[in-house]
Amino acid sequence: MKKIIEIGLFSAMAMVPAFAGAAEPAGEVPTYSREVSRIIQDNCQICHQPGQIGPMSFTSYEEVRPWAPLIRLKVQEREMPPYQYDHDIGVQELKGDWRMSAEDINTIVAWVDAGSPLGNTEELPPPKQFPVVGEWRLGAELGPPDHIIQSSKWDVPANGQDMWWEPEVDTGITESRCIKAVETLPSAAAHGSTHHANSHFITQNEDGEWETFGRLSEYAYGKLGELVPEGACRTAPANSKVGWSIHYYPDGNAVADDQVTVGIWYHDEEDNFVEEESYPQDLRLYALDGGGDYLIPPHGKLMTQGFHAFDHPVRIDSWQPHLHLRGVAMSMEVFYPETGQRETISQASNWNAGWNHSHTYDDGFQPLVPAGATIILTSWFDNTAANPRNPDPDQWVGAGQRTTDEMSHAWIAVTHLDDEGYDKMLAEREEREQRTVAASGGVR
Ligand code: HEC
Repeated sequence: MKKIIEIGLFSAMAMVPAFAGAAEPAGEVPTYSREVSRIIQDNCQICHQPGQIGPMSFTSYEEVRPWAPLIRLKVQEREMPPYQYDHDIGVQELKGDWRMSAEDINTIVAWVDAGSPLGNTEELPPPKQFPVVGEWRLGAELGPPDHIIQSSKWDVPANGQDMWWEPEVDTGITESRCIKAVETLPSAAAHGSTHHANSHFITQNEDGEWETFGRLSEYAYGKLGELVPEGACRTAPANSKVGWSIHYYPDGNAVADDQVTVGIWYHDEEDNFVEEESYPQDLRLYALDGGGDYLIPPHGKLMTQGFHAFDHPVRIDSWQPHLHLRGVAMSMEVFYPETGQRETISQASNWNAGWNHSHTYDDGFQPLVPAGATIILTSWFDNTAANPRNPDPDQWVGAGQRTTDEMSHAWIAVTHLDDEGYDKMLAEREEREQRTVAASGGVR
């Protein structure tokens, strides 16, 4: 504790657990110049720099050092970087994974425990370049989108209640194509008040009636975008419209004529990405308990579940839990009726409604679910005063649209397979596992 007092961060002091003997630095003490600056650049600066959403800037030693004890706490608790996905259960191979390695966390802890030394400034890395707010974050990897669709204009007031804006707009898509990636981009000005923005395709049936075709994108604050895996086709239909459901939550800044934009990147047709030759993928909302059949008592806790099964094999490509302020955790399991076994495939046990991510499984690691198996989604709610995000533990809380109501659903991207495709994918995995076992000298 002595070192913490020396650097004078009084408010955080009481919060920093004094772990006796935790993470003893092996050999040399880490320094800001050599190790910590690089870890902060790679994991924190995208948000913690001037003009970004992080409340303080971490671009120099002078900026970082006063926060060292709180940084230690936040990385050790895995609250920062904000990516709520358990690291010790379920599938761990994820795309766009923001979680820090245990090694980097230990380095930060050891550095703070050693008094946060600067070290030799000649070892500092050059400054890092970052994407600009209001620009495509997938752009660095994929270039500009092939097609963009904008919501119609809406005036966001500085203050007020939740509001919804649900326009329909023409997509301008003239030829059906397979989507490779999609990103929803709130405007830079309304970046803080665009709580979520969902969009779905609407197409005309044979009788000329407009009906929902499928989900285009689901955005919630903090989310990056979504990649559709190789071999799967999420169709962007020709002559379609997009129906928007945008939830604004005024944050003090009035924005006139705001528009939310969706960017679509297409798969190359040369690579056989045509609907008939790939498996259809869709992104859907899977509700728990019918989406609304629960009521959380004042000062009480509740668990709710939802069950989903398919009559054909599927591959789960991504999972995005969605809860509000009383929600504290969600998990996704698969129940195999033939063996009676139950397997956890994903879990987020430190849910934070301020952050929403689509956890996208790495290629080759997406859960394969046989026909008839049941996907079990479980949510946990804590309406007691012990939940730091609970605005009012005296309220009964049910499902609803307002931020202070609860929600309990997950967005899941599912690729619908046939037996042939399922068997092939299963065989590829078994082969890979055998190779891994062989490479480790036959020891698992
Ligand atoms: C995706 C953006 C993002 C990233 C990446 C990120 N932060 Fe944050 N951070 C925020 C925002 C927004 C807040 C304020 C709201 C909150 O606490 O959730 C915050 C708050 C904090 C706080 C203050 C918490 C408090 O209680 O006052 C600390 C300390 C912090 N971050 C450290 C870090 C560190 C260290 C990293 C990297 C290892 C990091 N953050 C990565 C966005 C980010």
